[in-house]
Amino acid sequence: MECRFPEQSTMDCPLSDKSGSTFIDRCPAMFPNILYVMKHSVHLKSPSPAEAFAASDARLKNQAAFVRFTSVTKRYPGADGGELALDNLNLTFEAGGMMAIVGKSGSGKSTLLNLVTGVDYPTSGEIFIGETAVHHLDESESATWRRGSVGIVFQFFQLLPALTVLENVLLPMALLGREQARVRESRARALLEQVGIADQARKLPTALSGGQQQRCAIARALANDPLLLVADEPTGNLDSRTAEGVLALLRQQADTGKTVLLVTHEREIGRVADRVVTLVDGRVFADEPGARLHRTGGKIA
Ligand SMILES: Nc1ncnc2c1ncn2[C@@H]1O[C@H](COP(=O)(O)OP(=O)(O)OP(=O)(O)O)[C@@H](O)[C@H]1O
Ligand SMILES: [Mg+2]
Repeated sequence: MECRFPEQSTMDCPLSDKSGSTFIDRCPAMFPNILYVMKHSVHLKSPSPAEAFAASDARLKNQAAFVRFTSVTKRYPGADGGELALDNLNLTFEAGGMMAIVGKSGSGKSTLLNLVTGVDYPTSGEIFIGETAVHHLDESESATWRRGSVGIVFQFFQLLPALTVLENVLLPMALLGREQARVRESRARALLEQVGIADQARKLPTALSGGQQQRCAIARALANDPLLLVADEPTGNLDSRTAEGVLALLRQQADTGKTVLLVTHEREIGRVADRVVTLVDGRVFADEPGARLHRTGGKIA
């Protein structure tokens, strides 16, 4: 016997027996989408318009999410089962804006950045940046993708000491080889201008102050116009006034459409970031809007 109504769908019920008594009959709360069971058919509730809208809205939001961590676990090998650095982490960031990752030493911040940039691999789970499945890239694909899509800023700048400031900024462009040398040079000079150290272009990095070196590192990170800018403790080695200037520069990048992911110990980061995610033992402990989001009613200004 079969029963169909226009707004219902029907499917074979693997759980029913010949008498029509089913597991579903006995445990209805476990199957909220099932309207009723008749003999060998299960009749499913059609989603209400509100439920259907919520589902499609969630799908759209998911598409809009630029950075997506789904059930990401990272365990470093070692004695006693190794070190669990990220524990089933689920996290999404939309494109544009500045997200700060904070947490105590050892909470998994750098591990998260290493995975987002494809420098390291998760033990399990998925990481997408836009349409790119970063966890699936092999080492050489990852290096190529990173060169064109991600800019990285480090706590200790990591400028090449034998190259001038200008040459440090030129290097990622030369490696990518997208433009002619003349175009690359004018772009590198424009970037140095943007970060406020155009007059230092011919110096070696060791002749620069810490703040100037970090500005150079930011210019280098922007060289290939990446959508994602990642910074691990970029102010950790700077005095507080210089740190303010570097944070303002990163904020400026977020305001011009880049997605900035920033790991920091700066206690006041909520003032400049749009969102502050706190990690504890490799899990999200808190996920809060920064002061800018409070001021703009939830929208990134
Ligand atoms: N290469 C590695 N091998 C083994 N364990 C590691 C490795 N890198 C990190 N860990 C461990 O993973 C955990 C998370 O480390 P991670 O470097 O991500 O922390 P963090 O939040 O960046 O800390 P910090 O603020 O000190 O930089 C720590 O317990 C750390 O000891
Ligand atoms: Mg770290």
